[in-house]
Amino acid sequence: MKLLPSGSATVCGIIGQPVSHSLSPWMHQQFAQQLGLDFLYVPFPVAKANLATALRGMQALGLRGCNVTIPHKENLLPLLSDITPRAKAIGAVNTLVFGDSGILGDNTDGIGFERALRRHGVPLQGPSLIIGAGGAARAILQALGECGATPIYLANRTVQRAQHLATQFPHLPLVALPLEATVLSALLPEIQLLVNTTSRGLQGENHPEIHLEQLPSSCVLCDIVYNPLPTPLLGAAAARGLHCVDGLGMLVEQGAESFRIWTGQMPETAAVEDLLREWLSHPNSQP
Ligand code: ATR
Repeated sequence: MKLLPSGSATVCGIIGQPVSHSLSPWMHQQFAQQLGLDFLYVPFPVAKANLATALRGMQALGLRGCNVTIPHKENLLPLLSDITPRAKAIGAVNTLVFGDSGILGDNTDGIGFERALRRHGVPLQGPSLIIGAGGAARAILQALGECGATPIYLANRTVQRAQHLATQFPHLPLVALPLEATVLSALLPEIQLLVNTTSRGLQGENHPEIHLEQLPSSCVLCDIVYNPLPTPLLGAAAARGLHCVDGLGMLVEQGAESFRIWTGQMPETAAVEDLLREWLSHPNSQP
């Protein structure tokens, strides 16, 4: 029997600041254990000023790749040798691959969102409403664009930001709107998929502009915030009888795709997602 991880383990990690809250080290070790792979995933807190040095160091140390989180997802684009078309469309990277010819940047957030929704039985065509116009919204637009969802409404507190984002996805049937109850009320009855991509909900806040009773009963509600669980928005939508999807599926699927890129093997995701949900719903029982 080989003791894992061994001295010849494939090493990956995550860079960001902070990274201490990240669930990725646990998640990737679960994937490796499940597949019996000799693999180690390490959290690296890296300040902006040290980003270039850290990347060179990771290459020198022979890391296979790493995930990237706040605040580096966009900052490190100029330091890369190449980026994939989907990372280019999103304008940010969350996955790096270290190779002989340099560093490749990829982004698995969009495909993670798509796979999570498909696994939860959500059709990705039909009128969608995205709340927010930040980095997470960009990843979801990239995914919905690939799936042919139409039309896509993009509502943001700062409407100019939604308008600007719409100009960056000119091939999509996008409509930018202010996040206002009167504006949303007119379109809620036709929405089949509503996604909150904003951080609102992290502190238990509600979404007063969204009158859930106006949504059709066939609408699916997705909140990419996964702490607390359920978020107030998902709790209210579930009480209204809507099909709800929290952000854990997207978290696990984006991680699984990074893991696949680095190791060539796709892990099972549903059990890992269930474990995380169990733990986040009962935070005293850490897995
Ligand atoms: P991320 O990369 O995680 O998407 P971001 O780029 O900082 O984060 O974007 C955060 C998004 O959440 C923005 O759309 C922001 O709205 P503004 O563009 O108006 O700032 C939105 N957001 C954050 N807090 C919010 C709140 N309390 N109410 C409504 N929208 C909020």
